[in-house]
Amino acid sequence: MDEVKRIQQLKKEKNAIILAHNYQRGDVQDVADFVGDSFGLSQKAVSSSASTIVFCGVDFMAESAAILNPDKTVLLPETNAQCPMAAMITPDSLKLEKEKYPKAAVVCYVNTPASVKALSDICCTSANAVKVVNALPEDEILFVPDRNLALFVASQTNKKIIPWNGYCPTHHLILPGDVLLELEDHPEAEILVHPECRPDVVEIADQVLSTAGMLKYAKQSDSREFIIATELGLLHRLRKENPGKTFIPATSYVVCPNMKMNTLGSIIRALENNEHIITIPEDIRIKAKRALDRMLEVGRGE
Ligand code: 13P
Ligand code: SF4
Repeated sequence: MDEVKRIQQLKKEKNAIILAHNYQRGDVQDVADFVGDSFGLSQKAVSSSASTIVFCGVDFMAESAAILNPDKTVLLPETNAQCPMAAMITPDSLKLEKEKYPKAAVVCYVNTPASVKALSDICCTSANAVKVVNALPEDEILFVPDRNLALFVASQTNKKIIPWNGYCPTHHLILPGDVLLELEDHPEAEILVHPECRPDVVEIADQVLSTAGMLKYAKQSDSREFIIATELGLLHRLRKENPGKTFIPATSYVVCPNMKMNTLGSIIRALENNEHIITIPEDIRIKAKRALDRMLEVGRGE
């Protein structure tokens, strides 16, 4: 039996749903029940009636699904699919920083471990970071762990933003020169940039958007060409959903190796063997859920 048919069969047997991030391999996206950005995936995890969620993404995404759904089994097909940015902050280092800024609210990007979410006032994603910050009563915000996203938010709000020094090694590879070189060949193209990019890349963007924001924008825009400054996996959906438009990657090096670990084979193994189950200690889960629930209440910003 081919892999796709086997996955469909196992999904029925297990009452399972497959959620996939926009950076997953094309064949993994095609077999998923829902493909989206971090915000959309969190929403979907809550609204699904399936008893098992196979999460094709990285560790913090599967953890968020498990935090929000204590009664569901959440499986991460590849345990080594871990976001390096999420590993750039620990609960102990955050506790020390919080002592330095006792009046600041802690806004944590979803790209964090559950233990860091548990110490935060509210989570955000790239789709609602500015809206989340502006929704808070505090004027001082400790923004963790992505300094590029923090700096982008700082440029969009009057509040004082204290950035953490983490970053996404994949988005960090994109340089302004890469984008400008493509612009020379495609002068009419619109430049869509993910806010995890360096500030000098964000500065030359026509639009700064989450992955789902880019998909929505590209569909609605009258432009025929777009330079895309984010992980290459997004091009699969951009091209599939907009056959008449051209999407040019800012550079061909922007691959997140962690996002690419999940395969059709590992989804089959996950469903057959119930692996790898994500478990969060209950005291941490309850506190982290508060921060995620608050974020979901604020909604999308784009
Ligand atoms: P979004 O899809 O939420 O924009 O996330 C980008 C990302 O890097 C997730 O790891
Ligand atoms: Fe983490 Fe960057 Fe990969 Fe997203 S693209 S999972 S932020 S390393």
